[in-house]
Amino acid sequence: MPLALAGLAGCTSPVPARGAGDTVAFAPPSDSLIPSDAAGRSIRRGRALLAHTRDSLPTHVGAALQCVSCHPQDGRQAGAMPWVGVYARYPQYRSRSASMSLIEDRVNDCFQRSMNGTALDPASGEMRDIVAYLAFLSRGVPVGARVAGQGLVPLRVGRGDSAAGAALFQANCARCHGPGGAGTVAAPPLWGDSSFNIGAGMARARTAAAFIRRNMPLDRPGTLTDQQAADVAAYITSQPRPDFPGKEHDWPAGGAPPDVPYRLLSRPTAPPGN
Ligand code: HEC
Ligand code: HEC
Repeated sequence: MPLALAGLAGCTSPVPARGAGDTVAFAPPSDSLIPSDAAGRSIRRGRALLAHTRDSLPTHVGAALQCVSCHPQDGRQAGAMPWVGVYARYPQYRSRSASMSLIEDRVNDCFQRSMNGTALDPASGEMRDIVAYLAFLSRGVPVGARVAGQGLVPLRVGRGDSAAGAALFQANCARCHGPGGAGTVAAPPLWGDSSFNIGAGMARARTAAAFIRRNMPLDRPGTLTDQQAADVAAYITSQPRPDFPGKEHDWPAGGAPPDVPYRLLSRPTAPPGN
């Protein structure tokens, strides 16, 4: 469409139009661009909170996780739900809550579900610092644009086989995450009391499979096939983890993905086995 318009206008400029809907390159800003003033100190504090979340905000974090446990390299890893450009993607309508989410709401979703904790006061200094860092990582990204490598790359496979996944887990994951998935000094937990809760995105088999396929095993990413990633994700998401009270109110207007592992008021049929 922009090309057709450009043609009509007789314009031969090779510079592509940029704006809402376009995909821009994945280009995290270098640290040298962090100013050395009060704004820069806020950006650095925000980054530190995301990397050392549990120690810095113990009353807001129930899991033995940091934000960067799932958003590695301080949110600067393509294909691993990076925060590059995230500030330009909000406010955003989210079907899980059927409402417009501000970036602060999205951060708090991960505090309450992925970190099995409690929300930060959106007006607190900590939230301001976190948002300052997310905005820094989004420098130069047009509002509403897609960034290459954002989110996760979904896999085109069917349901995983959790029995096959159990064997794959012991062979490929247990040496870091522990044979019982409870985590070790080398890696955070994948299930159990210290893990993310059932309401977290990572508790959904498809989301976990997509993350694992590209990012795990940490020292040999990309070595599992799509089916193997689905199998190991089926196994992990079938294990016990903390509850998320009120989860049945998710997707109040419908539209829940098929791998949501709990009953919803908007979809009262039993969830499929993983
Ligand atoms: C257990 C894994 C996990 C942890 C820990 C985690 N997140 Fe997330 N986060 C996710 C998943 C899954 C998504 C959804 C990604 C998707 O759907 O593409 C997400 C999405 C996000 C997004 C939106 C990204 C986008 O592109 O729109 C932000 C912002 C975010 N997380 C911030 C945080 C913060 C801040 C913390 C710590 C308080 C945190 N996350 C901890 C798994 C996690
Ligand atoms: C060499 C050690 C290592 C191996 C092997 C490994 N991981 Fe990880 N994993 C990590 C570390 C460390 C993190 C935290 C993120 C980071 O530091 O980059 C992590 C994070 C994760 C996360 C998100 C955070 C959480 O704990 O929920 C998942 C899910 C995960 N790994 C799954 C797997 C699966 C499945 C396998 C096997 C296919 C695997 N990992 C193999 C080290 C490892």
